[in-house]
Amino acid sequence: MKITDTSDLWWRSAVVYCLDVETFMDWTGDGKGDFVGLAHRIDYLAQLGVTCLWLMPFYPTPGRDDGYDITDFYGVDPSLGTHGDLVEVLRLADDRGIRVIVDLVVNHTSDQHPWFTAARSSRESPFRDYYVWRDAPPPGHEENVFPDKETGVWQRDEKTGQYYQHSFYRQQPDLNITNPAVRDEIAKILGFWLQLGVSGFRVDAVPFLLDTAGVDAARQLLPDPHEYLRSLRSFMGRRSGQSILLGEVNLPYEDQLEFFGGPDGGELTMQFDFLTMQHLYLSLARQDARPLVQTLLARPELPDGAQWAIFVRNHDELTLDKLSDDERQEVFAAFGPEPGMQLYGRGLRRRLPPMLDGDPRRIRMVYSLLFALPGTPTLFYGEEIGMGENLAVEGRSAVRTPMQWTAGANAGFSTAAERKLPAPVTPGGYGPAFVNVESQDHDPDSLLVFVRKLVQTYRTTFEIGFGAFGVLDSGTPGVLAHEMRWDEGCVVALHNFSPESAEVRLPLEGSAVLDLLTGIREPLPEKGPAVLSLEGYGFRWLRLLA
Ligand code: NOJ
Repeated sequence: MKITDTSDLWWRSAVVYCLDVETFMDWTGDGKGDFVGLAHRIDYLAQLGVTCLWLMPFYPTPGRDDGYDITDFYGVDPSLGTHGDLVEVLRLADDRGIRVIVDLVVNHTSDQHPWFTAARSSRESPFRDYYVWRDAPPPGHEENVFPDKETGVWQRDEKTGQYYQHSFYRQQPDLNITNPAVRDEIAKILGFWLQLGVSGFRVDAVPFLLDTAGVDAARQLLPDPHEYLRSLRSFMGRRSGQSILLGEVNLPYEDQLEFFGGPDGGELTMQFDFLTMQHLYLSLARQDARPLVQTLLARPELPDGAQWAIFVRNHDELTLDKLSDDERQEVFAAFGPEPGMQLYGRGLRRRLPPMLDGDPRRIRMVYSLLFALPGTPTLFYGEEIGMGENLAVEGRSAVRTPMQWTAGANAGFSTAAERKLPAPVTPGGYGPAFVNVESQDHDPDSLLVFVRKLVQTYRTTFEIGFGAFGVLDSGTPGVLAHEMRWDEGCVVALHNFSPESAEVRLPLEGSAVLDLLTGIREPLPEKGPAVLSLEGYGFRWLRLLA
């Protein structure tokens, strides 16, 4: 028997599941989710087949940016539990073969962080240079990431009369990574969490972290920020050989390649594929696979071991910023025509099922793609049951409503009074009465059971995570056909973006194909192309049999 050890590259065939402890499960009954609640739901994640849990920020925070404004990088916010509760989650996850990665948010701190409190107390503070200060904003206007709340990236500090940089909200002053003391602090933070047993980090806002342009030229002590990212990765590798940096880098592919460390690698292990995500939505809007095909073909070759993370939804606005204005308007028109569904002029604040009018064929086709595209699938909590958004909740929080466990009060998330919840549960047709774990758990026709099937099939189909990828000519604009070859295996996947059924002719080698999702074998003709049929919005994963 041939044994192939892929375990040292575990992230290439992982199933990542992102959740915020605050909205997942409340065990203490105070209205907020907590680590004890999560501990009680680890078996749910194990049963789903998750292999890597990504915990959104759980650190002490004033909550200006849903935890992405941190006051103590070593702490656990008391409302979520204690270090003891967190370690219990790590232990349980480990026992079920689930790795845990945590958000590393070191582009900025909260303005309440003791470093910033000290830094702003006087220009002579030893912490002053932990942040980026200027006597006046440098020339040229830089737009803030949150244009609905901020007009720029410089904020005057009244007491000391200088301006500090904040790429995000003004309550999130940017750290100055050109300062060696800050780099030492960041290394210590990584070291702390690795020692506690995490398998790596989802690195927040990496291009902002590495952008040192705001630092006064006279104080620039870091000529090449990428060199810093490289040294951080190698530090992490020395501390924990199998740990990963999964970076948030929403940039064109050529720039993303730089964040992998160029063709030789050595910087980020994985990056979210924002371009594939955005063009997937354009393909869905047009019912035409070609925008997605072109994007997949434009992907650069990655360094050894590096990997894309695929996602169709995350906790932020569904950004469409890399589409042209016309393309973005097309997606808006198809999936979020009302201004209240849009955000920052560049994205949508909706979840997938309502955007697709609840059409189960289309929803399943998209999740099939999530697992069949080369890269590591990343689920945002609630996607597996088809949760919708709550547009009555402000901004990005529309998609951060409590996990829907049952049809009961507060979706079974909490026994507290409704007003104590972090956000009201989603109302209407996507609310707990219609969408919840309990009712889908044993229903063979449910989305949850379908996603479990996808996860299981993906996890036993190593071609997806490890294989050489190629787009095949489907001959039909609506259909994406791609192959993945690894070792001696070859899997061909077909996805139909159009409502019309299709017949795809492909020159396939072998005697038959095995449909990995249905188990049905189909013989291949001895001569000539195989003719494979697909229903409208249909999809197939086919293993070629010798
Ligand atoms: C990116 C995160 O995904 C987002 O939620 C957050 O607001 C910003 N970074 C700032 O940390």
